[in-house]
Amino acid sequence: LIGDKDVTLGEGEVKGTRVKVSGRIHRLRQQKQATFLTLIDGYGHLQCVLAGDLTRTYDALLFAQGTSLTLYGEMRKVPEGQSAPDNRELHVDYYRVIGKSPSDADAITNRVSAQQDQWDAQMLDNRHLVLRGDTASSVMKVRSAVEWAFAKAYRELKFTKISPPAFVQTQVEGGSTLFGLDYYGERAYLTQSSQLYLETAIPSLGNVYCIEKSFRAEKSLTRRHLSEYTHVEAELDFIEFEDLLVHLEEMISRVITTLLEDKEIAGYIKELNPEFKVPSRPFKRMRYSDAIDWLNAQDPPILNEEGNPHVFGDDIAEAAERRMTDIINLPIFLTHFPAEIKSFYMKKEEADLRCTESVDVLMPGVGEIVGGSMRMEDYDELIGAYKREGMSIDDYYWYTEQRKYGTSPHGGYGLGLERFVAWICKQHSIRTCCLYPRFMGRCKP
Ligand code: 4AD
Ligand code: MG
Repeated sequence: LIGDKDVTLGEGEVKGTRVKVSGRIHRLRQQKQATFLTLIDGYGHLQCVLAGDLTRTYDALLFAQGTSLTLYGEMRKVPEGQSAPDNRELHVDYYRVIGKSPSDADAITNRVSAQQDQWDAQMLDNRHLVLRGDTASSVMKVRSAVEWAFAKAYRELKFTKISPPAFVQTQVEGGSTLFGLDYYGERAYLTQSSQLYLETAIPSLGNVYCIEKSFRAEKSLTRRHLSEYTHVEAELDFIEFEDLLVHLEEMISRVITTLLEDKEIAGYIKELNPEFKVPSRPFKRMRYSDAIDWLNAQDPPILNEEGNPHVFGDDIAEAAERRMTDIINLPIFLTHFPAEIKSFYMKKEEADLRCTESVDVLMPGVGEIVGGSMRMEDYDELIGAYKREGMSIDDYYWYTEQRKYGTSPHGGYGLGLERFVAWICKQHSIRTCCLYPRFMGRCKP
């Protein structure tokens, strides 16, 4: 009973051979004369046809969505006028049920495939089954390819990958979103960003990157905030601000090109986001102060969080930022934010010391996907920044000493992987762009 060839469903030409395949029932159509199964195994879909006595066995009663089984048979082209994945079907001559499945699995996976943005508790509780749906699995495949594409691009550009620690005793992006913990009797945190560690690695390694988890105790529920997310971060040595912007364009374009060159991945993207294409370069550039003017000039004006027109120094809140990005409908480099609303380490702009050499990359549908900047390279200026922020100078000795032992003009950025995937896959929320989302009130499954 062993097939001629043990195959996964992703393998192309296996017509005319007797094969053995294993997988789970994804869709089921039982007719009088025949049963049609769509099998999935994580590599593809396969239509399997069971006819005659094979449909009348005791095992056939166990067929439901999710049932796992091994089938043997001959692979054939589908008859004219009929359609099936890859235009082929397996004519089964023998099969074995491995694990049965209750029929309610169907309701869960199908409902979720159909309604991406319905993030009610039931779907979150059933995320382990939701993941079997077509949409969820396509998004996960794209996400995997995105991580790989970043690694490929960094390697081509001669960046060295490093792996900074997750347990830390310093903050990077403000104390309010730190997850604190007891570390053998000492106070420690889960890292918000690996940036400070990346900066310490450039003198010996040159340009570096990492793809690690970052943690933020976000106390609001939005569709683009998680408490645990995957952070793609890079740091570049001996650069100017403009170099950082050009590098970001280059990285984003390379990654998208790699994705679209992969037929399988391009297929998932086409299904999820038919209009998606490589953004044209250069990306639109807009200073923070011009963005404020732009928001105020809309009819009616897009207001700040207090309901007033924006003034210099206001945060551009998520809603306003999203409106602006959606109206402009292009990737935007939003630059030169005021120092007072940005992190302590950002370098000031020489021409206007109220502003920093900083950039957020905004994408239609999501808003901010990247935050980056040039870093303060002067020792005394950095000490001044700690004092202004009320931070402990001692805790940051290792970071400060970068400026003591041969400083350099350098800068870098962090990109939220889930946000990037949400943009490419046109997902309403970044919660569908990770395996098991973590956010306030949700730490299972
Ligand atoms: O803008 P952020 O806070 O910048 C930093 O952490 C810098 N230290 C990075 C660096 O320069 N190395 O975060 C960077 C990106 C954001 O643009 C966003 O895409 C993502 O990280 N991000 C989140 N993604 C999901 N959930 C959250 N709570 C996020 N917070 C930030
Ligand atoms: Mg940011």
